Amino acid sequence: MSILEVKGVSKYFGGLAALNDINLTIEEGEIRGIIGPNGAGKTTLFNVISGVYQPTSGQIFYLEGKRIDGLSSDRIAEMGLVRTFQRTALYHNFTVLRNVTIARHLHARENIFGVFAGTVKKMEEENVKKALEIVEFMGLGRLKNELAANLPHGHQRALGIAIALACEPKLLLLDEPLTGMTPTEKAHMIDLIKKVHQKSITILIVEHDMRSVMELCNYISVLDFGKLLAEGVPAEIQNDETVITAYLGTEDILSLGGEEVAT
Ligand SMILES: Nc1ncnc2c1ncn2[C@@H]1O[C@H](COP(=O)(O)OP(=O)(O)OP(=O)(O)O)[C@@H](O)[C@H]1O
Ligand SMILES: [Mg+2]
Repeated sequence: MSILEVKGVSKYFGGLAALNDINLTIEEGEIRGIIGPNGAGKTTLFNVISGVYQPTSGQIFYLEGKRIDGLSSDRIAEMGLVRTFQRTALYHNFTVLRNVTIARHLHARENIFGVFAGTVKKMEEENVKKALEIVEFMGLGRLKNELAANLPHGHQRALGIAIALACEPKLLLLDEPLTGMTPTEKAHMIDLIKKVHQKSITILIVEHDMRSVMELCNYISVLDFGKLLAEGVPAEIQNDETVITAYLGTEDILSLGGEEVAT
């Protein structure tokens, strides 16, 4: 069963078609890769799906065919379609646990007016308990009382995903989760993404590191200049002539985005 359908979606910025008549169907349980050169429209696609931008034209359907284009990003997140950002958005001066607890509060939109003080305390305890479970699940238990600002980059990205998990996603959009990571951090993050996927969460992932994309994804959609250039299983995409051309003739697609980052 499909969890997301993008139908004829275009997004213009002035005269520039950042997305040009995109059609995508994502099945429940997939890890779908969205790849393409810089400026291809990948983040714009995420912005349009998650309600950060409205499409100029086209329609987007989620879960049992609910139309979500035109809804606010808050409403879409409440429905379980949650995204992370290309640059991690954290409360840097709050602890790891506080960051996730706040995300839970925001998600639950708790209306505490007219509620007994005792009930508020209980809600808070429940939120902290759930947040702690998520923090531990993401391998950050030991760092729960550390300020987000003090975490190494890899852990900050893991915290970004923990914050997304606080919203209980059914469909999670990850924008470049591996960027700027050391090989060790990358391997760890790939394991975490697989673990998240095992919680029955469908994942859409934009990533430049091709080896990781090929390892993680069951199916890949390629964007180029706002258009859907190709779709297929990893082995097909690696050998697709149009894809190789889009990446400026790079013969070995697997070598893309895999540069090592010094610690
Ligand atoms: N808010 C905006 N206003 C104007 N132009 C935009 C805006 N957002 C994106 N664009 C343009 O739309 C095109 C697609 O950008 P987008 O960020 O979606 O690419 P991308 O595939 O995510 O690239 P990257 O791999 O570098 O992150 C680019 O030409 C970009 O300059
Ligand atoms: Mg981008």
